Amino acid sequence: MKKIFLQPLTVRIWHWINALCFFALIVTGLQLRYQELPNITSFRTAVDIHNLFGLIMTLDFFLWLAFYIFTGKIRLYIPLDLKKFFTGAFAQALYYGYGIFLGKKNPHHATPDDKFNPLQQSAYFMVMLLLMPLQIITGLFLWDIKRFAYWIGLLGGLKVVDITHVAVFFFLTAFLFVHVYLTTLGRTPWEHIKAMFTGYEEMEENGK
Ligand code: HEM
Repeated sequence: MKKIFLQPLTVRIWHWINALCFFALIVTGLQLRYQELPNITSFRTAVDIHNLFGLIMTLDFFLWLAFYIFTGKIRLYIPLDLKKFFTGAFAQALYYGYGIFLGKKNPHHATPDDKFNPLQQSAYFMVMLLLMPLQIITGLFLWDIKRFAYWIGLLGGLKVVDITHVAVFFFLTAFLFVHVYLTTLGRTPWEHIKAMFTGYEEMEENGK
């Protein structure tokens, strides 16, 4: 067995702060939307906690973005070779849907320069470069509708901004369930999660 360093400290810090914010935002977001359903806090407290964690998540997002842009590693998130991407995505889907139940090996072997399999890469691309910015911008506008009235108007009005924020919330929450499930599919259920804390992942000498 060998250990490879996959998760830099900045990524690990970003990731766990982000996960904590998601949890707080989902619970308070549900409280805001369906007031009687969770009934955990008052409406006012839910608004305050939602705003606070929204702000922390936004700052944390810029930490993630700055790290990936300044190190040039943002390319890990972008499928540059489309032919390799589509054949890899097919092999990966076959593995998750079929091969894994026969004990076959994962077709993708993570390295620091090729960390994500094509399915992870496309999901993370959508989440980090499309949905998160959209959620941050719509959240910012809803935080102070008077100050951002002009921009809200440009996007089609308050209803459009609100529906977008709620729709993205549902996509991101659905992503979270699938994401956590998929991270348990390493050689052991905790392997990838441990690596997100320590930075290191254990692999067989041939990289599998
Ligand atoms: C309890 C909740 C969570 C757990 C247990 C978890 C677990 C993990 C693990 C083990 C990895 C490394 C393996 C991999 O790349 O797939 C990872 C990476 C990642 N997770 Fe999560 N995650 C959680 C919440 C979230 C949330 C809420 C997001 C929302 C955006 C997220 C986004 C990501 C992204 C983008 C990566 C790739 C990071 C990188 O290497 O650049 N995770 N997660």
